[in-house]
Amino acid sequence: MKGIILAGGTAARLFPLTATTSKQLLPVYDRQMIFYPLNTLVKAGIREILVIVAPDHSGHFLNLLGPMFDKSEIKIEFMVQKTPRGLAEAFILGEGFIDNDNVALILGDNIFENDFSEEIKEFKSGGHIFAKKVADPERFGVVKFDKDGRAIKIVEKPKEWLSDYVVTGLYLYDNRVVGAAKNLKPSERGEIEIVDLHNFYLEQGELKVTPFEGAYLDAGTHDSLSEASRVVKEKGIYKKFHPLVDKAITNFSQELKEISKKKLI
Ligand code: TTP
Repeated sequence: MKGIILAGGTAARLFPLTATTSKQLLPVYDRQMIFYPLNTLVKAGIREILVIVAPDHSGHFLNLLGPMFDKSEIKIEFMVQKTPRGLAEAFILGEGFIDNDNVALILGDNIFENDFSEEIKEFKSGGHIFAKKVADPERFGVVKFDKDGRAIKIVEKPKEWLSDYVVTGLYLYDNRVVGAAKNLKPSERGEIEIVDLHNFYLEQGELKVTPFEGAYLDAGTHDSLSEASRVVKEKGIYKKFHPLVDKAITNFSQELKEISKKKLI
């Protein structure tokens, strides 16, 4: 299983913060936001990760993650998405990287407390996505389940109540997703939509939707960004990082401290 972190986008809801850097490089408690989705993938055993970034500030990602992981077991590649054409474009941009493997896509602004390593290790084929119960489902992609708990429908921002469970930003797909993404037509807002990929698998009876417990944050607004820092600290999420990621962050911080000391001498 390969991993992709989608860390491009416009981040207009976070202006003016994102006029000078990318959303996924903003701090969430004591580290940049991108480390949380990165950690979710690494904890699940994924070691090859493609980070897709927007052209503006793309060098910041390289400066941070490049030296941090250059001697690590975690291999990181970068790719620029010229314009934000939609989440599903990750699979088109990532075609060469994905090659013949299955892929886990995670959104660069999504923070999960939960550990998905079992689901990712057990994944063989089809699609597998994860749903969370929320108070305001009408703002998200909502999953309707049948009486046996099987997903039967996913609707983006439904006008009528379908359920309280919404699709979150971690998606596991088999290799067919690349072809399916290439066949998508842009929606009214001009994006190729991930919900169409869910429905591609759902129509074939090959989409599994698993509800999960534990904190989940989409840190895309000022309120949710500050809430993210609070929850990460309160629940100690930053203390439960995989040793490979933890070590990389600590060593890099140490190196920076030594360099700054030398500059003072
Ligand atoms: P969104 O939060 O939907 O979009 P955004 O980040 O551009 O923010 P805003 O709505 O405030 O303008 O994106 C979710 C994640 O996916 C986020 O990490 C950015 C990323 N993304 C891309 O990398 N490319 C894209 O084409 C889109 C739509 C999103």
